[in-house]
Parts: sequence; C-alpha cells; structure tokens
Amino acid sequence: MKMRRAVLVALVVPSCLGLLGAGKQQTDSVPSFKTNVMPILQKYCLPCHSEESFNPSELALDDHARLMKGGEHGPAVVPGKPEESLLVKKVMADPPFGKQMPVRKRRKPEEKPVQLTEDEVQVLREWVKAGAKND
Ligand code: HEC
Repeated sequence: MKMRRAVLVALVVPSCLGLLGAGKQQTDSVPSFKTNVMPILQKYCLPCHSEESFNPSELALDDHARLMKGGEHGPAVVPGKPEESLLVKKVMADPPFGKQMPVRKRRKPEEKPVQLTEDEVQVLREWVKAGAKND
C-alpha cells in the first residue's frame, strides 16, 4: 500500500507542477487547447468522433481545425460564445438536439453513463469564451 501511494505521489505531483508551469506561460488561467482541451476530447470523444472511427454527424474532433469545422449542424464552436457552441451545449444536460455527449451504450442497466465532470465542462467553456484558440 505504501509503495502504491509513493508511486501515485511521484506521478501526480510532477504532473500538477507541470500544469501550473504551463498555465503561467499563458495569460492568467485560460485553458490551452493542447494542454487542457485535447485530453478531454481524447478521453471522452475520440472513440467515436474521429476520422478513424465512425465519426457520427460527420464531426471529427481529432484536431483544432476539424473541431472548428464542426459537423452536420455546423461549427461545433462559436469563439467567445460558449452558450452558442455545440461543443459545450452537447456535453450538458438537455442539449438542443440528440443526446447528451458522450453517448455511451450501457452494458448493464445499473451502470451509470459516463459524463464530464463540472471541472471538465468548465475547461471547455472557458476555452471557448477566451476565443477557442489553437494554443
Ligand atoms: C459512443 C459514441 C460517441 C461519443 C463517445 C461521443 N459522441 Fe458525440 N455524437 C455521437 C452520435 C451518435 C451523434 C449524433 C446524434 C446526436 O446528436 O445525439 C453525436 C453528435 C455530436 C454533436 C453534434 C454534431 C452535429 O453537428 O450534429 C456534437 C457537437 C458532439 N457529438 C460532441 C461530442 C463531444 C464533445 C464528445 C465528447 C465529450 C462526444 N460527442 C462523444 C456519438 C458519440
């Protein structure tokens, strides 16, 4: 048990310091596309929304250019306007159409669907608000 904790600390502490360091180079605490947004997309969205995958609604989220291009319903991001951006609206409850993202098939009825944490939704929202830059 002690060993595992040491390993955890060894992994978590440097990555936190790394994040702090990365944050300092940017203006205040605006999330960066590469450091903060892309990992969320990778974790929750790319299993479906990737050119290599089945790419529902023709929305590929592999990189900034594809995200900005959007899918069937147009651009997934309106820079500066999270309240008009599908990237944000579709990960929240009651999206304007279709399902809340990420869609997940439940294998067992008692399994809860996976959802982004409040913090992760906040990262997307702040990034869009700050202009959705490819940084
Ligand atoms: C299990 C597969 C799956 C995953 C994972 C998934 N999606 Fe989707 N997505 C879909 C399907 C299917 C649709 C079309 C139906 C709908 O809109 O509900 C869709 C539609 C969308 C649309 C609408 C695109 C348009 O123009 O019509 C957006 C935006 C979107 N997804 C964002 C996301 C984001 C952001 C994530 C990750 C947080 C994500 N999706 C994860 C399957 C998935």
